Amino acid sequence: MTNQAIIRVQRFNPDVDEKPYWQNFTVAVTDETTLLNALQEVKTTQDGSLTFRKSCRHAICGSCAMNVNGRNLLVCNTPLRKMLDSRGVVEIRPLPYLPIIKDLVVDRTAFWEQYLAVKPWLIPPEMEAEKEYRMSQEEVDALHEAETCIMCGACYSACPVIATNKRYLGPHALQKAFQRVMDPRDGGLAERLDMLEQDHYGIYNCHTITECITACPKGLNPARAISMLRYLAMRREQFEAERVERQKGLVG
Ligand code: FES
Repeated sequence: MTNQAIIRVQRFNPDVDEKPYWQNFTVAVTDETTLLNALQEVKTTQDGSLTFRKSCRHAICGSCAMNVNGRNLLVCNTPLRKMLDSRGVVEIRPLPYLPIIKDLVVDRTAFWEQYLAVKPWLIPPEMEAEKEYRMSQEEVDALHEAETCIMCGACYSACPVIATNKRYLGPHALQKAFQRVMDPRDGGLAERLDMLEQDHYGIYNCHTITECITACPKGLNPARAISMLRYLAMRREQFEAERVERQKGLVG
């Protein structure tokens, strides 16, 4: 088994380079070496100008998502050895479909704008509940899925619809929107469904290609959340009436 690996990194500094290019670095590899360890080793001992994001090193902060051998993943929890081809080479590029700031760092402005567009916070209902909200397992599951998301951008940047339609909200934002739509405490259901049904950026723009599922490092299923939102939008009259009745039942 090889004790050395070649890290092939896509480099690009918009201040001096006309276009991206590949650069190879050789690093030592053990069973414990992660892709992030390897990049850090290159930066520390070979080329301090190599630029990438990372923070927690424990698959929590979501900042180290990159494209490795054509697949989006978190480099901090991926063993280097697992990603080497038969020649002992691994290719690392920035997340696709996003503007490159430098080397492996991308501009996530659109990603965060789409996230905020779905108002991911709880909108309080007009009534004040006097009894506790009892949530169904389905509602708890929606909450749990959305809270498990670490906003790394792997699903967003793997989505072929995002590649051609930057107005599309994207799987990360729609996953969060699903949580709020399912939340029995939320008072913004009608407003949310109006927004999610919009032509150019809403739920009907998903082509169910499901790259988001493959890319998610947390094993989430944004495609299922989007299809559930479509189902709820189809029967929204009944769904909204049920929500109003349920909230009224908590008063007095
Ligand atoms: S460094 Fe935080 S998720 Fe990888």
